[in-house]
Amino acid sequence: MIIRKATSSDVSKLFALEQEIFTSENFPLSRGSFAYHVKNNLVYVAEVDGNIAGYILALIKRANAKIYSIGVSKLYRGRQIALKLLETVMNELISMDFKQTLLEVRTDNEVAISLYKNFGFSIKKTAKAFYRDGCDAYIMELSL
Ligand SMILES: CC(C)(COP(=O)(O)OP(=O)(O)OC[C@H]1O[C@@H](n2cnc3c(N)ncnc32)[C@H](O)[C@@H]1OP(=O)(O)O)[C@@H](O)C(=O)NCCC(=O)NCCS
Repeated sequence: MIIRKATSSDVSKLFALEQEIFTSENFPLSRGSFAYHVKNNLVYVAEVDGNIAGYILALIKRANAKIYSIGVSKLYRGRQIALKLLETVMNELISMDFKQTLLEVRTDNEVAISLYKNFGFSIKKTAKAFYRDGCDAYIMELSL
């Protein structure tokens, strides 16, 4: 498995992976959004045997970088791929001199909450009815 920065030629595969992983309530990214983020933000992919097994997107436009999305294909879960993607993006954020990173996660997404806590994020507050279906979000934070 290799972790590398995504390029424009990954956009179609990233879009296909997004559709496998996220349903419409989770605001899946469009093909155009991936094309934009690959150029303007941090997108890393985990590649296994030439397939994109997972990706992470961090937004770097503001003072606090934000982990916008992370997803791993069902076929490849439970192999520490998400942890490695987080580690790679955090190292890049540290090298860019960010001091802190934030994210939002559905309060019913126990797997993701466990992943982020495991990595060192802590819950700062709850945003009520943050998602389209009324689900709350935890705002989680990590000092870098
Ligand atoms: C969340 C997700 C990215 C985890 O990917 P993954 O590569 O399988 O995760 P890892 O193997 O790196 O696991 C890392 C940690 O996450 C947590 N975790 C992963 N799978 C878990 C499960 N089934 N149950 C509970 N905790 C779990 C654990 O803390 C795990 O650490 P451990 O192995 O030391 O117990 C993946 O399940 C996914 O894509 N889910 C759908 C998309 C999503 O919800 N994204 C997050 C919101 S944007």
